[in-house]
Amino acid sequence: MPRFHYPAFAAGFVLLFASASVTGFAQSHQDYLLTDNWKFTKGEVANAAAPAFRDAKWQTVRVPHDWAIYGPFGADNDKQQVKIEQNKEEQATVKTGRTGGLPFVGVGWYRRQLEVPGFGAGKRAVLVFDGAMSDARVFINGKEVGRWPYGYNSFHFDITDYLQASGNNTLAVRLENQPESSRWYPGAGLYRNVHLIVSNDVHIPVWGTYLTTPEINTEFAKVRLKTKVETPGNTFQPLRLETEIRDAAGQVVATTSSTLAATDQQEFEQNLIVKAPKLWSPETPTLYTATSKLYAGDVLKDEYKTPFGIRSFKFEAGKGFSLNGQSRKFKGVCNHHDLGPLGAAVNKAALRRQLVLLKDLGCDAIRTTHNMPAPELVKLCDEMGFMLMVESFDEWKTPKVKNGYSQYFDEWAEKDLVNMVHQYRSNPSVIMWSIGNEVPDQSAPGGNKLAKRLQDIVHREDPTRPVTAGMDRIGDAIKNNFASVLDIPGFNYKPQLYPDADSKLPQGFLLGSETASTVSSRGVYKFPVELAKQKKYPDNQSSSYDVEYCVWSQIPDIEFAAQDTLPYVAGEFVWTGFDYLGEPTPYDESWPSHSSYFGILDLAGMPKDRYYLYRARWNTQQPTLHVLPHWTWPGREGQTTPVYCYTNSPSAELFVNGKSMGRQTKSNTADLRTRNRLMWNDVQYQPGSIKVVAYDAQGKAVAEETVRTAGKPHHIRLVADRTQLAADGQDQAYITARVEDAQGNLCPDATEQLRFKVSGAGSFRAIGNGDPTSLESFQAPQMHAFHGQLVAIVQTTGKPGAVRVQATGKGLKSGEVTLQTAAEKVR
Ligand code: GAL
Repeated sequence: MPRFHYPAFAAGFVLLFASASVTGFAQSHQDYLLTDNWKFTKGEVANAAAPAFRDAKWQTVRVPHDWAIYGPFGADNDKQQVKIEQNKEEQATVKTGRTGGLPFVGVGWYRRQLEVPGFGAGKRAVLVFDGAMSDARVFINGKEVGRWPYGYNSFHFDITDYLQASGNNTLAVRLENQPESSRWYPGAGLYRNVHLIVSNDVHIPVWGTYLTTPEINTEFAKVRLKTKVETPGNTFQPLRLETEIRDAAGQVVATTSSTLAATDQQEFEQNLIVKAPKLWSPETPTLYTATSKLYAGDVLKDEYKTPFGIRSFKFEAGKGFSLNGQSRKFKGVCNHHDLGPLGAAVNKAALRRQLVLLKDLGCDAIRTTHNMPAPELVKLCDEMGFMLMVESFDEWKTPKVKNGYSQYFDEWAEKDLVNMVHQYRSNPSVIMWSIGNEVPDQSAPGGNKLAKRLQDIVHREDPTRPVTAGMDRIGDAIKNNFASVLDIPGFNYKPQLYPDADSKLPQGFLLGSETASTVSSRGVYKFPVELAKQKKYPDNQSSSYDVEYCVWSQIPDIEFAAQDTLPYVAGEFVWTGFDYLGEPTPYDESWPSHSSYFGILDLAGMPKDRYYLYRARWNTQQPTLHVLPHWTWPGREGQTTPVYCYTNSPSAELFVNGKSMGRQTKSNTADLRTRNRLMWNDVQYQPGSIKVVAYDAQGKAVAEETVRTAGKPHHIRLVADRTQLAADGQDQAYITARVEDAQGNLCPDATEQLRFKVSGAGSFRAIGNGDPTSLESFQAPQMHAFHGQLVAIVQTTGKPGAVRVQATGKGLKSGEVTLQTAAEKVR
């Protein structure tokens, strides 16, 4: 059987990001973030790209900006009459909230005056768009500079020849989102950052370095840095590149200097040695930085930084995956790109908060479904320690939705793959590339050839990482030689078929590229508690006992069993870490559902019970003990109300109002739940309390957890995820508001409307309660609590100081929390 051995890999990101508008790390190379002073309007406008066009009446916005997240929600926004084949549907029905029920369809225009500091003879200017949704057409001074259809990819245009020497320039961007172009909420507009890069005409281009670590042992790591250069007319010049590598403490650990030869084809190759390398892993995300200075004679022409990590990994037949020589399985989640109440508008603090929550969960890997991530996410994964499967497409030639990527595939697929790989091929977090998700071409004649073609493109651009794809049509994919082509066969929702697939495939290992798709709503418990497929209730919610799933999917325990018993399975990527906008299965046809039920955490980032089921398994550093449901059930007295406990202890005892209901121990029975959950199925509800006491393997009590029946809602408690923030106009705090009784118990059914007032050095940014049926605006400073809780997002201003956050609600004592912001970056 073939083996894949990816000896080592390393990292890098191209340019320094900064939150202010003027940044960059040297006079020779400036990176300006185009955040402020954008004008925006929705709808087609004639001559909007012309410099003389008057945009004074347009809205003034900051970028990143998602024009659709402001709503209003409506069942008619992108209503789709469709038969979803992946969901085994037999006839077309009308899907209302499939893309989030938000008004993202249509044309939008952005305009901005563009100053290019220091521009003149011998300078070049490039615009980099981290992502623009979608079909971007970019104009400078009324002339079209370029087009990029795929909304998720980063792209760049050299605008040097379009700029006026006088310095007065107009940048205009036209975007258009077609109806029926997506299976989830895509967002709309300039939802990721836009950079202006000013460099010398002799320079290192965007994504111009490629850093690998072809050899790693305990004594040293070999670091290979390939650096492209561009010169006027791309003619050869005898340039010199000086590179130094610093470790995480800033100490120089290696240096080299080389001269470009005429035969080098405008690319330097430098090999350096780092002695006694500190390896990158999710647990120890150690980064080094290579700084390269490009000289023509004695003149510094460009300076370029490539952060990187040193790590090796392997996929091996019969053994699965190992990192730095240690066997491990991906404890991964799939995530869509939206940030709940912020929509698609990227924000680093929002991403960091997600990663902090996922770290606590014990998650070590993310699949960026089903498209390229924001660069901020990749950088944070390098720094915080997450392994990434970077995915490209949800569609190739055969469409899933009427106006999806298939219309662009032939012309754009290669360009899109090349940009993706060039942008992230030096980042240590990126472990594998995915060329597609559940593409119907698995079943089409020639589908395997397409897979081969795309995989070859990726290998050509980055021979150091394997390629996978998420396959759902396991029979076809095997029969058609589609699965056998891939470096790593990835299967979606097929744990029962792993042994059969493995026996028919040459690789000898495979991956749970998408798993579980269990559905639940935070705080909602349905009775009787029973395993149920595609279960629907009149309130459009799903039970948080974690027993409900879809036609094609499962409860988590089924995947766990396969992962535990099959060494050649390299791990799993759960669908999904966070709930996302759109795809409200099993309520695809039932407005007002418009966001997903699949998340381990809800749309506002609050953990559902399932969080603790995964945490008990994945977080091996800290104890987990969690009991469900809540214990406030007026009217259920005397009725059977099962109690579940999620813990990493082998057994626990339940006490209801002080009386023991017996000890349960994890066990191997035909009901796979008994391996992971302690269940007392016959408990009769009486108000009071439930307490679980966890015991270790020796029978010693190690922890306990109590849930009490709540009294009447009494006050609001505000809990901030962080209280020290950067006064940079971008940083955010996430404030969880809890409606509690006088004793501090969560009132689990509270629905009070909570109003926020933010004063001082911050402002209200957005709000969410995790209810997939809520039509309240994410952007207004009030919302009803969903099962006693909601989350408000507060954003800092540019001025340092205190931020006072207050929440009021009718009949409730108000809540308050104070945050501090400082000019210095605090994290
Ligand atoms: C998969 C698909 C995902 C999502 C999921 C829901 O088939 O790849 O994008 O639709 O199902 O369970």
